Amino acid sequence: MLRPTWSRLMLGAGVVGLAGAAALRGGDREPPRHEAVTYSRDVAPIVRAKCEECHRPGSIAPMSLTSYDEVRKVARQVKAKVQSRTMPPWHMDKTVGIQSFKNDRSLTDAEIKTISDWVDGGMAAGDPKELPGPATWPDPTKWQLARDMKGEPDLVIKSKPYSLGARGQDKWWRPVVDVPITEPRWVRAIEVKPSFPMGRRVVHHVLTTLEQPEQGITGLAATAAHAEHGGPMSAGLFMEWALGKVGEVFNPDAGKLMLPGSKIRWEVHYYAVGQEVPNDEVELGIWFYPKGFTPKYRTILNFWNVAAGSELDIPPGQKTMTQNFVVLRAPARLENFQPHMHMRGKAMMMEAVYPDGRREVLSHVNNFQWNWHVNYIYSDNVAPVLPKGTTLVFTAWHDNTSQNPNNPDPEQWVGWGDRTVDEMAHAWVDVTYLEQADYDRIVAERKKTRAAATSSPP
Ligand code: HEC
Repeated sequence: MLRPTWSRLMLGAGVVGLAGAAALRGGDREPPRHEAVTYSRDVAPIVRAKCEECHRPGSIAPMSLTSYDEVRKVARQVKAKVQSRTMPPWHMDKTVGIQSFKNDRSLTDAEIKTISDWVDGGMAAGDPKELPGPATWPDPTKWQLARDMKGEPDLVIKSKPYSLGARGQDKWWRPVVDVPITEPRWVRAIEVKPSFPMGRRVVHHVLTTLEQPEQGITGLAATAAHAEHGGPMSAGLFMEWALGKVGEVFNPDAGKLMLPGSKIRWEVHYYAVGQEVPNDEVELGIWFYPKGFTPKYRTILNFWNVAAGSELDIPPGQKTMTQNFVVLRAPARLENFQPHMHMRGKAMMMEAVYPDGRREVLSHVNNFQWNWHVNYIYSDNVAPVLPKGTTLVFTAWHDNTSQNPNNPDPEQWVGWGDRTVDEMAHAWVDVTYLEQADYDRIVAERKKTRAAATSSPP
């Protein structure tokens, strides 16, 4: 049975997903050696765990993959997409950097082999008795966090109505909505809820940015970037949502701060599905800490530009590389990595150069797909904890050649801009700045765990 799973971070944001990775590792076992691979026993559990959330009636994918017949009909495409690791959408390089994530929906090598062997071996149906039981998906009209938060959200903010045509390119809807609070409030949990049923099908992802008049709170490059562009000061990204994610529950000593006069700047990425969707609205549910309670840590989602404006100069038929550097002015823990580029975007890497000169790749998204905003959320025990003075190195690659299958026109010069045929390169990283004592404690604890792991017999 599929049930929402809960995970919490020691510091900063916990992320709640529908697809509990541990509970869903049904297809993770070794592919069978002697018997033929069958749909019922071998393939269906993988599809249930890793595909059906989107590939089922009423969800976002173009076709449903919930039965033998449905999967068999598109089996060649399925094999191609899983082998190229474009489906499920998880485009992280698996050979370098941190590999443990809270929301990992990727297939293991064994799962890819099982699917490929099944397609190549004649697509046996197998014994229907071995099929996984009926799927249960949570009621999409309800707030999923209400049970754990012991009640409905304290505040619900709606995007403004948007009417999406039946056909056309992807649309980005960016209304700004006032937050009706009269005193500062600390946020304990956040959930984003698209409308049902159509919103669920046409909303690819949602970004909500908290804008409020504050100086220096985003601290590093984000503040400079905003000031440079003359935009309002931002307290960073408030909440990022994409299918498969429900919301964020902060650790009891962390949260986000909302000030009176703040606004939510929405970015809703709509995707036409052949049917008109009039006046669609997305809801943002917010649970507050009790009045007067101040958590120890404030989690901030940073926007780090790798390149903007004239720095992005991508000639026709060329591959380009751009870099930017951010020095951490306090010890910090990075909770996630979310690259953002457009159609020529190919790869983005985040590295750490420690104060002693040591250099380490933290994450490398080497198979970037512009229409997927995958947020890679580090597991608690591996989220990078970095000393003050660490330099983060962001590198972005764009491919404006005909080798890039997403490239609409390799003859065009491409520069910075909003449209998906223009380019961007930035990273969203949720940062929890730490006091030195906490940094020292976490580093000591990790050292101890590592020592215990290496000294115990295998
Ligand atoms: C998070 C949602 C999501 C998950 C999980 C997902 N898909 Fe998809 N899939 C989509 C969407 C949306 C599209 C259409 C847009 C695109 O291709 O990016 C798609 C497209 C596809 C296509 C191409 C269809 C076409 O007409 O081109 C195939 C094949 C596919 N998915 C197979 C799979 C398989 C197999 C899995 C699981 C192993 C899977 N997908 C997991 C959302 C998802």
